[in-house]
Amino acid sequence: MRLLVTGGAGFIGSTLIRVILKERPDWSVVNLDALTYAGNLETLADLEGNPRLAFVKADIADAQAVAACLKAHPVDAVLNLAAESHVDRSILDASAFVRTNVDGTRVMLAAAMAAPGVRRFVQISTDEVYGSLGKTGLFREDTPIAPNSPYAASKASGDLMARAFGHTFGMDVVITRCSNNYGPYQFPEKLIPLFVTNAMEDKPLPVYGDGLQVRDWIHVEDHARGILAALEKGKAGEVYNLGGGNERTNLEITGLVLSELKKPATLIRHVQDRPGHDRRYAIDDTKARRELGWAPRVDFASGIGDTVRWYVQNRPWWERVKSGAYRDYYESQYGKRKAIG
Ligand code: NAD
Ligand code: DAU
Repeated sequence: MRLLVTGGAGFIGSTLIRVILKERPDWSVVNLDALTYAGNLETLADLEGNPRLAFVKADIADAQAVAACLKAHPVDAVLNLAAESHVDRSILDASAFVRTNVDGTRVMLAAAMAAPGVRRFVQISTDEVYGSLGKTGLFREDTPIAPNSPYAASKASGDLMARAFGHTFGMDVVITRCSNNYGPYQFPEKLIPLFVTNAMEDKPLPVYGDGLQVRDWIHVEDHARGILAALEKGKAGEVYNLGGGNERTNLEITGLVLSELKKPATLIRHVQDRPGHDRRYAIDDTKARRELGWAPRVDFASGIGDTVRWYVQNRPWWERVKSGAYRDYYESQYGKRKAIG
């Protein structure tokens, strides 16, 4: 199987590539990524030179570049993860979110449909398309779409675009909607890596509002295996929720981080809440368990401990992200190489 993974220089895409290359020894991957501020090839440095992995620097909203990539690298399936992914940035300015998450998804769908040989398109969506839950209940695949942030609205539009290509053109499209991921190599603007790295530097941990918002945490490798299961076993036109079954308030997560690092609670700072902040997410993943034979494997207590230790042991990785130095990496690795073919 030959795959095109978009957004492979990001947190989940890089994990997915690592899982695929390890667990499917005959498969090859083309990683198409624009290397926005969130894309970091240092995250894939251990795979450099692997003959089963190719990298193409391109924007998913650039139809010509995507078509050229698919022509140069024919594939059997496309996994679309490339996205603007941070809710807070979408509140400041949603334009890049609409361009990448909506129009970029449309471009990827059209290019995959036109490419001979592409048999399946997996759209990586999010549980945020469902909006927010009250104290009880779970998101099911038939829960109405009700996105609350500009990020969530853009992801819902991409998700529905994928559905529409399946319905209108008979494309084989499968959609996954996952809950909050944690693990190594997450960009330190998201809750867990931000709080771990701030605490390591004895900087304040900015908890939005009362900190009692609830997220359902899943280890990133479990999400990657869920995407793989959707690719291999999902039914065309279907949506699969993926979740960790680990509901925690943000204050609980903050407490876990502080206790893993043996840092004091005095680092906690309650700050002004995120506008429109969703109160609770929680996933019903019965359908994925039943139809895909998938279930999360990583125990939360050990997963979060390992994750905190990973950031402790990989300080140069996140220091280079926080300082911006990681952006020089592409230039040093690829800047002077001549294009071939
Ligand atoms: P990320 O921000 O870490 O990575 C996004 C990647 O996409 C980066 O490498 C970036 O360079 C690339 N990218 C952005 N715009 C691009 C464009 N126009 N063309 C090509 N590449 C572009 O994001 P992530 O957390 O790894 O999320 C990956 C996907 O999973 C996203 O679609 C996101 O919506 C979805 N998702 C994330 C979570 C989560 O908890 N992080 C949960 C559910 C779903
Ligand atoms: O649910 C899936 C979604 O999870 C994905 O689709 C998104 O791409 C991903 O970023 C994530 O969105 P969240 O908004 O839930 O993640 P974030 O890490 O930004 O925030 C998690 C919670 O922590 C949320 O309730 C806001 C809160 N928070 C976040 C930050 C960055 C804080 O209290 N303080 C902070 O500084």
